[in-house]
Amino acid sequence: MDKTAANQMWGGRFSAGPDAIMEAINASISFDKRLAPQDIAGSRAHAAMLAATGIITPGDAAEIDRGLSQVLAEIEAGEFTFSTALEDIHMNVEARLREIIGAPAGRLHTARSRNDQVALDFRLWVREQCDAAIGGLEALMRAFLAQAEAGAEWVMPGFTHLQTAQPVTWGHHMLAYVEMFARDRSRFIDARARMNECPLGAAALAGTSFPIDRHMTAAALGFDRPTANSLDTTADRDFALEFLGAASICAMHLSRFAEELVIWSSAQFRFIRMSDRFSTGSSIMPQKRNPDAAELLRAKLGRILGATVALFTVMKGLPLTYSKDMQEDKEQVFDAADNLLLGLAAMEGMVSDLTANRAALEAAASSGFSTATDLADWLVRELNLPFRDAHHVTGSLVKLAEDKGCDLPDLSLDEMQKIHGEITQAVYSVLGVQNSVASRTSYGGTAPDNVRAQIARWKEVLG
Ligand code: ARG
Repeated sequence: MDKTAANQMWGGRFSAGPDAIMEAINASISFDKRLAPQDIAGSRAHAAMLAATGIITPGDAAEIDRGLSQVLAEIEAGEFTFSTALEDIHMNVEARLREIIGAPAGRLHTARSRNDQVALDFRLWVREQCDAAIGGLEALMRAFLAQAEAGAEWVMPGFTHLQTAQPVTWGHHMLAYVEMFARDRSRFIDARARMNECPLGAAALAGTSFPIDRHMTAAALGFDRPTANSLDTTADRDFALEFLGAASICAMHLSRFAEELVIWSSAQFRFIRMSDRFSTGSSIMPQKRNPDAAELLRAKLGRILGATVALFTVMKGLPLTYSKDMQEDKEQVFDAADNLLLGLAAMEGMVSDLTANRAALEAAASSGFSTATDLADWLVRELNLPFRDAHHVTGSLVKLAEDKGCDLPDLSLDEMQKIHGEITQAVYSVLGVQNSVASRTSYGGTAPDNVRAQIARWKEVLG
C-alpha cells in the first residue's frame, strides 16, 4: 500500500498519511503480532456467526474463512510481512485478507470494532497463559512432592529470623512450598474462570444494531458466556491485572525458595547440592558451583511485579471506555508471562535435580539448642511447671551448655539437677531431634506421619 496515502482502514476523512514519528508511536505491530493466532481465531468465529445470522452470505463467509486460514499459515511459516503503516495485528491481518480474497474481506469487520477485537485477542492470550501457569505449577508441585516423599522423616533445622528455632522434617519444608504453589494454582484457576466471558460483539463500545449472536461466538471460542456490558467490555483490563497479580505472588514464592537454594547450597550450609545442569562454574575460581538459575529466579519477581505496577498505572484514571493508553498493556503482560513460565520450568528442574545432604541437615538440626522448646514442654508436662518458669529453667540450661561448649543432650543429669532438682533421666528422651519431630503430631505439624498423610492427600489432588 502507498504509505503516503490516507490509511486504508480509517482513512475516509483523512487526506494525508501520518507523520513518521506518529506512525512509530502509534504502531503496536512489533509486539501485538504475537496475538495473530488469537486474532484469526476470533475473526473466523465472527465470520461464521455473521453468516449464521444472515448478516453476510455463506459464500462470503467461506471466502473469509479460507483467506484467514491462509493468512495464519503464512504467519506460522514466517512468510508474512508485517507492516508498521498498518499499525497493529488486526489491520495487518485484514489487509492481507483483502489481498487474498478481494472484496468480501471488507465484510468481516461488520458489527465489530478493533476495541472488542483487541479485548478478545488479549483475553484469549491471557487465558492460555493461565492454563500454562496451572500446568507449570502442577509439575512443580509434583517435583516438591517427590522431594518430600524421599525425605519425609529427615530432620533439618527449622528457622525463624534465619536462626535455628526447632527441628523440622525435610518433607514438611518441601510441603510448605506445595501449599504455596497450590494457592498460586488456585489463583490462576479463579482468574481464568472470571475472565472466561467473550468480549466479541461489544463492538466499538455500545454494542451493535446488527442481529448478531454473541452466544454463538462465545461458545465457539470456548467462553462460558458473552460479557454483559459493552462499555465495561471495551474498557476492562482487570483480567490482565488479575493474571499479573497471581503471577507476582507466584514469582514471590519462587523467589523465596530460590533464596533458600542459594543459602542451602553455600559451603557454609551444604544442605543441598544443585545438579550440574542447574549450576555454573566461575571462570577464575575453580572450586565454585554457582546457583545462577536460583539467583535469576530470585530476581524475576522484580520484572513481574514491575509489569503489574506498570499496567495498574496505565489503567488508573482512564475514563470509560477504550483509550489508546491501553495499547501499553501487552508488552508488560507478555514479558511477565514469559518470565513466569520460564521461572516455573527452571524451578521444577532445580527441585527435581537437587540432592539433599541428609547428614548435614541432621547435624545442623541437632546443633543450636534446637530442642530447647521440647525441654521446656517436658518441664511443663512432667514437673507441672508453669510454662514461663519452664522457659526460665531451660534458658539456664542452654546457658550452661553454651558456656561448656556442648549441646543440651551432652549435659549430665547432675548438671541439670543443679539447675532444677526434679529433672530425671527421662528428660533425655525429648532432647533428641528425631523424638522432637516425631512428637509434633498436631494437625499441620512436622511429624513424619503427618508429612506422609499430606503427601498422600496431595497425590490424590494432583491425580
Ligand atoms: N492496537 C490497539 C491496541 O492494542 C488496538 C485497538 C485500537 N483501537 C482504537 N480505537 N484505536 O489497543
